[in-house]
Amino acid sequence: MKKLFIIGVGNMGMAILEGIIPQVLKEEDISVYDVDKSRLQSFLNSKTEVVDTIEKGAKNAKSILLAVKPQDMEDVLKEMRGTVVERNLVVSIAAGITTNYIKRVLGQNTKVARVMPNLCISVKKGASACCFSSDCTNRDKQFVESLFKALGTTLSVDESKMDIITAISGSGPGYLFRIMEIFIDIGKEYGLKEEDSRKLVYQTVSGAVSLAITSNSSARELREKVTSRAGTTEAALKVMDEYRIEEMFHEAVKAAVNRAKELSRE
Ligand SMILES: NC(=O)c1ccc[n+]([C@@H]2O[C@H](COP(=O)([O-])OP(=O)(O)OC[C@H]3O[C@@H](n4cnc5c(N)ncnc54)[C@H](OP(=O)(O)O)[C@@H]3O)[C@@H](O)[C@H]2O)c1
Repeated sequence: MKKLFIIGVGNMGMAILEGIIPQVLKEEDISVYDVDKSRLQSFLNSKTEVVDTIEKGAKNAKSILLAVKPQDMEDVLKEMRGTVVERNLVVSIAAGITTNYIKRVLGQNTKVARVMPNLCISVKKGASACCFSSDCTNRDKQFVESLFKALGTTLSVDESKMDIITAISGSGPGYLFRIMEIFIDIGKEYGLKEEDSRKLVYQTVSGAVSLAITSNSSARELREKVTSRAGTTEAALKVMDEYRIEEMFHEAVKAAVNRAKELSRE
């Protein structure tokens, strides 16, 4: 019996698999399935088992990780129906797909964990939030947390918080990439070489994050510390406030929360 069957080894499924071996699970503890057979090539020389149907994988695994796009979930769950039994734990990372929805399709006695990770799990610096259906045991919770702890930090939350978490940390890397892109382009417009501008921006973001994580100060205190009166940072921050940066981010997060609700299957 496999400890984990992964359905969908795209960006996230693969990042999870690569991040949990060997610390949490061994190659031979895992089986995988994907409709895109090219994704399965990389397992030719591995002890991870490639199965050719969802039914085979699900019947022979203790836990099942669903790492397909939200729009493919209904098909996958329908294929799983009848193969999942009470001992199984189903773990979904699909945005907007609720534990209730999964239980409704697979059966009320299916134990379900829902996790919202982000792309940074691929470098083991992910931020993942987990919630569980009420019938999950402490062992189920520990198992899921051990998977995602190997990939960064985890947080246990109430499911009602999943939309805002999706909008803040799930989509967050995308916002930060956009901000970095803007600063790199501005550096170029002012005459920096692209590689130099990129180097400076990446290191600045990385350094600021390290400072924020290791310091006991709040983000506000750190910002105040680097903003000397009448200095350059103050001049720039003043313009950001005039352009209502806070309001802009509020609206952006609101749009992401609304989109998460639209995608949601309750
Ligand atoms: N990417 C992120 O930053 C992020 C963050 C948090 C959560 N998530 C969630 O993670 C999930 C996976 O996202 P991703 O970016 O890894 O997607 P992805 O790269 O498209 O990977 C999904 C894989 O599943 C395959 N697939 C589709 N239908 C299938 C089926 N019926 N049975 C088996 N495999 C199937 C896809 O094949 P085809 O390409 O042929 O369809 C693809 O290889 C999504 O639900 C998303 O909401 C993503």
